Amino acid sequence: MTEDMALRISELDIGDAAYRELLLLADPDEERVAHYTTSGTCFQANLEHTRIGGAVWHPGSTRTVELLNLSVHPTWQGQGYGKQFLNALLAEARARGFHGMTVGTGNSSLGPLALYQKAGFRIEGVVKDYFLRHYPDPIVEHGIRCCDMIRLHFDLTE
Ligand SMILES: CC(C)(COP(=O)(O)OP(=O)(O)OC[C@H]1O[C@@H](n2cnc3c(N)ncnc32)[C@H](O)[C@@H]1OP(=O)(O)O)[C@@H](O)C(=O)NCCC(=O)NCCS
Repeated sequence: MTEDMALRISELDIGDAAYRELLLLADPDEERVAHYTTSGTCFQANLEHTRIGGAVWHPGSTRTVELLNLSVHPTWQGQGYGKQFLNALLAEARARGFHGMTVGTGNSSLGPLALYQKAGFRIEGVVKDYFLRHYPDPIVEHGIRCCDMIRLHFDLTE
């Protein structure tokens, strides 16, 4: 499908338990993850025969695809694979005729906020209190309470 150096991405028909485990790194809500692995389009990222990452997207309105989850296994984090995986997904979305990709992440998710903006995503909005309303247990990252969803958009037509 798409090859970026040694990383290969491919679509999965349905996510198995190990795949869902990987996605839980990005979203602790098991029910939500189970739902979108059946309703969305599932991708995996492989290095040779080792699956190191998973991502799901949902076609949205007006030719926009919503990235719901992007995860790299902890063993493989911090080595540039998240960036390669994201770039491969953007290329795939462009090849499939989408005009934009959107993603939502927490105000406390400093790593993903850096990753998306370095890749060219721009902040387009904030959903106030999203994580307070939808997640019963408090989420804290880097000593910051996760309260709001930061919405980002990548223009695939440029
Ligand atoms: C977020 C995630 C996918 C990034 O994958 P990764 O392989 O670790 O990221 P990379 O090594 O490719 O880093 C890409 C860029 O983001 C930046 N970045 C990543 N994590 C960062 C952090 N915690 N703080 C600051 N910058 C960070 C890196 O500096 C890098 O920029 P560079 O290319 O200029 O050096 C991975 O850490 C992960 O799976 N996390 C848990 C799940 C998650 O939170 N997913 C996001 C859901 S919205």
